Amino acid sequence: MRDPSFRRSLALFRAFTREQEDPAAAYTLLARDAADQVERYVPLKGKIVVDVGGGNGHFTREFRRRGALGYLFEPDAKELGEGQQVQRARDTIVADGYLLPLADGVADVTFSSNVLEHVADPHTFLSEMARVTRPGGLIYVSFTNWLSPWGGHEWAPWHYAGAERARARYERRTGSPAKHRLGENLFRIGVGPTLRHVRGRTDVDVVSARSRYWPVLPELITRVPGLREFATWNLLLILRRCS
Ligand SMILES: C[S@@+](CC[C@H](N)C(=O)[O-])C[C@H]1O[C@@H](n2cnc3c(N)ncnc32)[C@H](O)[C@@H]1O
Repeated sequence: MRDPSFRRSLALFRAFTREQEDPAAAYTLLARDAADQVERYVPLKGKIVVDVGGGNGHFTREFRRRGALGYLFEPDAKELGEGQQVQRARDTIVADGYLLPLADGVADVTFSSNVLEHVADPHTFLSEMARVTRPGGLIYVSFTNWLSPWGGHEWAPWHYAGAERARARYERRTGSPAKHRLGENLFRIGVGPTLRHVRGRTDVDVVSARSRYWPVLPELITRVPGLREFATWNLLLILRRCS
């Protein structure tokens, strides 16, 4: 599907709302969409693609389906799920994104979807992605910023009323413990500060900064201070590793 377009955004939104009932369909669509986004810049066939914090590997599987040598790096064995045979899968490595067990410049593409808001030190995380990317290689990073309507994850949109209050409300309503706790495995990350940070880096060039899902003018939204913190929803950065 064409990016951006209303059709694509609607399909992704529908899949997102049905994620609990049909996670396979939702993640397959999301993975195809992300792979299409990468292929706007570089064909995946034959490329070494490193997926950092890749969860159960739906993106890595899609990259492999398209002929890439995809490798999944995920620190939490539980996130890998039953489908992944952690011990045996040669393309799956239990590893932290802060310290990837890779030599400098080995990857043609490094990819990270919805991980940056879950790390306490996103700058070090980005440095490690840049380190393992070859000069001229592509870095795909997307994250849900804190002031996005989905910033509070399972307790959104009540995070606007305060993280602890939102979390307590979620637990009261559902009777289940919330997965995320602010300052532990979810962090306040902003669009503006992140853009200033990446633009100031000397190891990467910013190729594109856009709303990942927005159906119109996805790059324009990220240029409007204030509004971008609420309307971007999910910031997608396409970076190029400098020589
Ligand atoms: C919301 S999930 C996203 C999973 C997948 N990338 C996706 O977009 O569906 C966040 C992932 O980040 C991983 N994560 C958290 N801290 C990390 C770190 N320091 N290095 C690498 N991954 C990390 C978690 O284990 C989890 O799998």
